[in-house]
Amino acid sequence: MSATQTRFPDRQAAFARLRDLAARPDGRRITPLFAADSGRAERFTARFDDLTLDISKTAIDEAALETLFALAETADLEGFRRRLFAGEPVNVTEHRAAMHMALRAPAGVELKAALPGGVDEAAALARHERDRMQKFVAAVHSGEIRGATGEAFEAVVNVGIGGSDLGPRMVTQALTWARNDAKMEARFLSNVDGHDAVEVLKGLDPARTLILVASKTFTTLETMTNAAAMRDWIVATLGEKAVTAHFAALSTNLKATAAFGIAPEHVFGFRDWVGGRYSLWSPIGLSIPLAVGWDKFQALLDGAWSMDCHFRDTPVRQNLPVLLAMAGIWNINALGCATHCVLAYDERLKRFPAFLQQLEMESNGKHVTLAGDPTGWDTCPVVFGEPGTNAQHSFMQLVHQGTRPVPVDFILAAVPDHDRPQAHRILAANAFAQAEALLRGRSEAEIRAEMQAKGASAAEMDLVAPARVAQGERPSNTILVRHLDAFTLGRLIALYEHKVAVQGCLWGIDSFDQWGVELGKQLAGGIIPELQPGAKPGHHDGSTNGLIARFLELRGEA
Ligand code: F6P
Repeated sequence: MSATQTRFPDRQAAFARLRDLAARPDGRRITPLFAADSGRAERFTARFDDLTLDISKTAIDEAALETLFALAETADLEGFRRRLFAGEPVNVTEHRAAMHMALRAPAGVELKAALPGGVDEAAALARHERDRMQKFVAAVHSGEIRGATGEAFEAVVNVGIGGSDLGPRMVTQALTWARNDAKMEARFLSNVDGHDAVEVLKGLDPARTLILVASKTFTTLETMTNAAAMRDWIVATLGEKAVTAHFAALSTNLKATAAFGIAPEHVFGFRDWVGGRYSLWSPIGLSIPLAVGWDKFQALLDGAWSMDCHFRDTPVRQNLPVLLAMAGIWNINALGCATHCVLAYDERLKRFPAFLQQLEMESNGKHVTLAGDPTGWDTCPVVFGEPGTNAQHSFMQLVHQGTRPVPVDFILAAVPDHDRPQAHRILAANAFAQAEALLRGRSEAEIRAEMQAKGASAAEMDLVAPARVAQGERPSNTILVRHLDAFTLGRLIALYEHKVAVQGCLWGIDSFDQWGVELGKQLAGGIIPELQPGAKPGHHDGSTNGLIARFLELRGEA
């Protein structure tokens, strides 16, 4: 993608220019761009091996592209990318690096060389723990490591929430869906809602169940509550001594894992330079190789590392994470879109939108710059999604005809893992058709002509035609891969991870902290004692006081 790059005095000027471009008479329209340029699709498509990213169905033209790259210059994207890979504290408010890439650097790759600036300690630790994980996984699979009664483990329960749940759960589901080659059954317990624990434990035999307590901090209330419940479940059947054999911990807090009674050889550690939402590559992801085997976990890491290298080494104009980020910036900051829809036409990626919700919204749902000033421009949109085609039969009505545009990412693999080729062609046709429909829409004239040909009366046409109009000119990106396997999935996840980092850099915010989640946690801590039978009311607003009182009354505990 070509454009002449300039620099703005500051980000505000760049965002103002983007808004001005969108305000041109045809500034929000996409179809005229295709009409004027037969090479548009090719020029706004970037490839990395089989991974194809097409951002041509956006209203980004040459002037917009030039402005976006000038914004990148203004925000010093190149410098940010260097600092990120050098292990500098890009997580400014927590004084931490964001070095999840070190977790996927292959053995033999000197991180010092791979990551300019050098972070040997990061690489060495990551490799050490990865080796321990691999040995543990092999021993569990071979039956060398067994439960307290001598039975081999057949199921693993990952107890964790947020980043300690979403990534491992999404990947495990994607790589085991519709297959029967899983090494172990993997289940995930995240919600402190007791219904979740009841459901997760249904049919599990404690003697054959391995429990992973996955918590970076090992203090998260939900996880600690669920871990205690799992402990009780094991102890009730197998006795206190079984805890050592049945539990492993994945954490940075070794004191707390010891206090819980987890044997040091079952504790897999990492450091604070791995953010929660970037931790599936770390020991937090241990449920993945336990479920799908080490080779696939390794392929996942390799796929992500290949994207790391692409992101680190490729000029920004051909750089997939940068281009995906740019398309988002245009939609949000030029067009004012407040939402972003992710439609994977792949049932195996059912949990991908949920994973992305944390990745994108916890990273970039921020309102101040690194300097602590209000941004003055919009940041992360609300991310949501479902697998296609299911989504077409629920919320896509709004995406086609609602009052506000909702940009979409379509994700599709050309080659499925099943032997129903026609079903896959139908699936793919729907993905392409949805993107095409969003782009071209349907005019009232077209609809009237069609109705007239079918013999509709003038009155019927007046009534129905306006309701059938789809304005079109609605933006989407398409990500097409040959085949969804562990390697491709790793690549896809890393693509989005780096996209989020690029957007954070362009917005001038800290993508790696998450202070917004703290207040609710603190307040819940205060409310818990007020929900005990007969507890005295606390000091809240009238609504909260009233709801707490009513809760106790409904339970007969007021
Ligand atoms: O509440 C948000 C959060 O801190 C996430 O960032 C994190 O992924 C999740 O909670 C779980 O934290 P932990 O792994 O420390 O239990």
